[in-house]
Amino acid sequence: MKKLWNGRFKGSSEEWIDEFGASIPFDHQLVLEDIEGSLAHVEMLVQCSILSEQDGDLIQQGLQVIKHKAENNELKFELSHEDIHLNIEKMLIDEIGPVGGKLHTGRSRNDQVATDMHLYLKKQVQEIINSIDQFQRVLVNKAAQHVHSVAPGYTHLQRAQPISFAHHLLAYFWMMDRDKERMNDNLKRIDCSPLGAGALAGTTFPIDRFMTAKTLGFSSVYENSLDAVSDRDFIVEFLSNSSILIMHLSRFAEEIILWASQEFQFIELDDAYATGSSIMPQKKNPDMAELIRGKTGRVYGHLIGMLTTLKGLPLAYNKDMQEDKEGMFDTAQTIQRSLDIFAGMVETMKVNESNLASAVAKDFSNATELADYLAVKGIPFRDAHEIVGKLVLHCVETNIFLVDLSIEDFQNACPLIAEDIYEVLSPEQAVKRRNSYGGTGFAQVEIQIEKARAALIDKEAGTK
Ligand code: ARG
Repeated sequence: MKKLWNGRFKGSSEEWIDEFGASIPFDHQLVLEDIEGSLAHVEMLVQCSILSEQDGDLIQQGLQVIKHKAENNELKFELSHEDIHLNIEKMLIDEIGPVGGKLHTGRSRNDQVATDMHLYLKKQVQEIINSIDQFQRVLVNKAAQHVHSVAPGYTHLQRAQPISFAHHLLAYFWMMDRDKERMNDNLKRIDCSPLGAGALAGTTFPIDRFMTAKTLGFSSVYENSLDAVSDRDFIVEFLSNSSILIMHLSRFAEEIILWASQEFQFIELDDAYATGSSIMPQKKNPDMAELIRGKTGRVYGHLIGMLTTLKGLPLAYNKDMQEDKEGMFDTAQTIQRSLDIFAGMVETMKVNESNLASAVAKDFSNATELADYLAVKGIPFRDAHEIVGKLVLHCVETNIFLVDLSIEDFQNACPLIAEDIYEVLSPEQAVKRRNSYGGTGFAQVEIQIEKARAALIDKEAGTK
């Protein structure tokens, strides 16, 4: 089939070679952005008297027909037309005749594709920001229900100190908040128009780049035409932000998987987020959490892939850059779905209060309380640590816990210990008394919940 750029060519390539070079199998996803960019471009060409109004009108009408078909999934893309840009241009010429060929005046596919990518990613990132916010809402609501649920806190996956279960959930809230902030920051770089940079050097036509930027809703334009068509930083940033975000989800997924295990039994997942086994009838597998943990690999892969593709590329456009798309599309979809699934999974999971309570009652995570108690009585913390360590060893050897020791046992270890120690050793007290700023004390957690709510997007005002 004759190519739109055929003039200089004598021979033609074979279909399988065309197929290797084509991006239409995946960049058809940019169809609406491509048409939007073209509509803005043609409007500007007319305004700047580069095209006649009559030609401009015809082109606009043709583009609208194609847009309508695109919205109804009625377009048929041809591999021989390589990419979304040439496919649309060909459709336009078929629709309105040779005047359709005037659309590409003062433009190149290089600034065109960059424009499409900016438009596409802007929308995706805005949706992802909303999904993060939605997930944060779920986290804070769940946390509010569990301020007084005392749970074991871990270091090295060994029980460390009791904490409020809400405190644990809120830790993820703040990770998501930083992810939201990073995505918002990314938007500043995405929100910049490369249109009008031409192939690399700008154009001889008296175009107005600010006009197209405004029509397309971009708040700024690239200052350098070479940079405009060569820059894919905004995608690398997105992939990098996404990698951090999914790393957070993966850590949370890992905890959900542990918590749902028979060994922990801290939570029960709703049936909608679990699956059974084809052979073992008793199983309820936390598939969604596992899958999100697994998808972390592909998102990191896309980041490394993109960085590697760009490394060593001379300015300006190189065909290598066509490789920027699939990873970006896939990442946007993966992040969006993972967030939405995670929100549903956390919202519907049941927290097993009694198992949390017995986990903190029967362990040594109150040992720090005893050491702190002695330190308050004037014993240097290092010595207090030693005294308590010996008591713990004694308990482990005799198969009891600290609260099972008699007051005599305590006083033998240190005469400063009095009856009030039993109260101090209760897990509730351990949590309640950790009232330092940002700590797990119930009062601090309540303050944190208020702060968290204030960090959510104000749906009415549309801002933070
Ligand atoms: N399909 C190409 C891409 O995605 C569009 C830009 C092509 N430009 C060119 N000069 N071949 O990167």
